[in-house]
Amino acid sequence: MKFSLNVDHVATVRNARGEAQPDPVTFALMAEKFGVDGIVTHLREDRRHINERDVRLLRELIKTKLDLEMAATPEIIETACDVQPELSTLVPEKRQELTTEGGINVIDNIEHYRDAIAELHKASISVSLFIEPDVNQIDASAEIGADFIEIHTGLYANAGSEEEMFDELEKIRIAAKHAKKLGMGVNAGHGLNYINIKDFLAVENIDEISIGHAVIAHALFVGLERAVKEMFALINTYGK
Ligand code: PXP
Repeated sequence: MKFSLNVDHVATVRNARGEAQPDPVTFALMAEKFGVDGIVTHLREDRRHINERDVRLLRELIKTKLDLEMAATPEIIETACDVQPELSTLVPEKRQELTTEGGINVIDNIEHYRDAIAELHKASISVSLFIEPDVNQIDASAEIGADFIEIHTGLYANAGSEEEMFDELEKIRIAAKHAKKLGMGVNAGHGLNYINIKDFLAVENIDEISIGHAVIAHALFVGLERAVKEMFALINTYGK
């Protein structure tokens, strides 16, 4: 299983002072040096963390791959077509939310997402849809040409009991298998950390996990190199 690092929260710390440091771009380059398989970043409509300068510099400088999380709005689609990430992950976006709160509803907005995927494909950008582990959402994603899905792992990560946690994990297991059968790549993320990742890593058919907050938070204590290497050690120990 591959591991991509989301660097948004480095920009959150930078923006707290409106100064240049810490720079999420330098952080991403260091993370690549320590072995991450890709860099993820979310260019939000309100630019609360990552800004256009960051995205353009990341595009220019990183050597692995760029996964641009984004809402499917005309403005951001135009920016993505210009920036040319390897992958655009379409997410729902509300200004008031602290972080992405759940998957997109592909079924109820199927023409909207069909058009967004077509626009991004015209620019030769692969598209991933961030969805709940729900086979109907997966079928709709395949129908409109998504190359990948990203399974929202938030309900698993925030489960209130062990039973709930294993129920969520079972849904993720079924969803990942179903998406693979339909020929899509399968990513997963949200709320994964050094503890809940262990059981998660037993799930088959997941190509890549996208983690931000837990690794950035751990890096504050132990440094980025150790934070990245500890995650890889878990992946190598518990992963499929
Ligand atoms: N995947 C998506 C689509 C997200 O929106 C986020 C949060 O930015 C993540 C993964 C990473 O979540 P976390 O920061 O909780 O690891």
